[in-house]
Amino acid sequence: MRSFKVCLVSAEVVPYAKTGGLADVAQGLARSLARAGHDIRVVMPMYRRVREAGHALEPVPGLQDVAFQIGGRRLYFSVSSTRLPGSTATVYFVRCPELYDRAGIYTQDPDEHLRFAALCVASVRLCQQLGWAPDVFHCNDWHTGLLPLYLWTHFAWDALFQRSRVVMTIHNIGYQGVVGADKVGELGLENERNLLHQGDLKAGQINLLKTGLLYANAITTVSKTYAAEILEPELGMGLETTLRQRKSDLFGIVNGVDYEDWSPATDVHLAHHYSPANMRGKALCKQALLQRMGLAPDLEAPLVGIVSRLTIQKGFDLLPDILPVLLRKHNLRLAVLGSGEERYESYFAWLQRTFPGRVAYDRGYKEPLSHQIEAGSDMFLMPSRFEPCGLNQMYSLKYGTPPIVRRTGGLADTVEQWEPTTRQGTGFFFGEFQAEALMNTVDFAVSQFRDAAGWKQLVANGMAKDFSWDRQGELYVQLYDRVCPPAPPIR
Ligand code: ADP
Ligand code: GLC
Repeated sequence: MRSFKVCLVSAEVVPYAKTGGLADVAQGLARSLARAGHDIRVVMPMYRRVREAGHALEPVPGLQDVAFQIGGRRLYFSVSSTRLPGSTATVYFVRCPELYDRAGIYTQDPDEHLRFAALCVASVRLCQQLGWAPDVFHCNDWHTGLLPLYLWTHFAWDALFQRSRVVMTIHNIGYQGVVGADKVGELGLENERNLLHQGDLKAGQINLLKTGLLYANAITTVSKTYAAEILEPELGMGLETTLRQRKSDLFGIVNGVDYEDWSPATDVHLAHHYSPANMRGKALCKQALLQRMGLAPDLEAPLVGIVSRLTIQKGFDLLPDILPVLLRKHNLRLAVLGSGEERYESYFAWLQRTFPGRVAYDRGYKEPLSHQIEAGSDMFLMPSRFEPCGLNQMYSLKYGTPPIVRRTGGLADTVEQWEPTTRQGTGFFFGEFQAEALMNTVDFAVSQFRDAAGWKQLVANGMAKDFSWDRQGELYVQLYDRVCPPAPPIR
């Protein structure tokens, strides 16, 4: 297979900035593609947290205080670079303090669309300055939605990009970057008005993700099931028509797992390690987790873990109707790490107050604790309404923590129902988004936990699964091969 030059543009990349799975995927995919010999350059904003973290960054010559015009606004950006840890891939940070030097990665500020439009422009300008023609601009989510349109219009004059193609990956259609049509000018698209989605313009808006879907050469999303689900109104969330029109260019590629960061045998965040051959460390991790979270030290009681952004997507609305019942019925423990919408945060805080020693809730965003919950829990709960892929269920499998999940999106593609009679399967599903369905599934999981031999097999089945990026990265390479023109002959 030929070697590709890929410019991967992402709003989040581990270990620099992360709010969710996008960051893990950007790192994991970049590492695996670089390992396979492709030339990978990742571009992301230099948020305040990146600047303050003290990473060793090199200013890129020729890319300091570069002026650029976006709409009526004149901005300056500078670029610094480094190697992605554990990889030969290069990461470029776009420094533009006016846009990125803020407390959060994402903001509610009125120029949020500009922050990411600027990332698209800077990514292309960066390639120009380097004289580096990517075969593929690999864009991710709404933040990068304008890149193909800018490339085919503002930069159409530049022969450097004649052979470049754009792949747009949808990680989450729940965020589309919708702004008022009055922003056309600010986005520098006054002359391209006729290229924007006309129905949206008439309705007074511009949808940045939809714009990307219109102009990318190929579209991917992060599981096969989700690729089918987003063609329907319920989960297409208004983009189903556009996606159906582009159905032959839409591909589902399940995310991989970066086992360098997520393996119980080597995880730097764990005090005790374990592997299928020696599981003693898992019990020690459970003990440590119970203690750390202030839960009663009962190793026999099943401990259920949750690590999540607390948004409507994740399905926690099902819990109030059943959790108090479940906690009374079974001697369960619940360890929750997550932040997000206030209603969920206050629910988990209430639960902790009401069931002291049985429920522990940490409202923070804590990388080490997220690993410790994966390792120390007996089961992992993801009752998502929708889940494009989901990474935590795959981490759970590797950590010997069978996941309880709703049969949707990537959860359906990566978990297999445990069948006690055949002793096959890796976790537990429920189908309908209904509290009772979840309750029955938790009841079933707890009953299985009591069967030590069966549970051991279930855990072993999950730990044996391999979702490594090398396999999944190869599927992206095949897609790049499909969208790119044949390599020019070597003279
Ligand atoms: P999503 O991208 O929708 O949030 P994923 O399952 O793909 O869902 O990825 C979530 C990632 O974010 C996982 O790596 C998970 O461990 C991490 N994560 C979510 N919430 C927290 C938190 N509060 N603290 C630490 N890590 C978190
Ligand atoms: C999104 C999705 C999640 C997916 C992640 C990485 O935020 O919600 O399901 O795993 O992106 O692709």
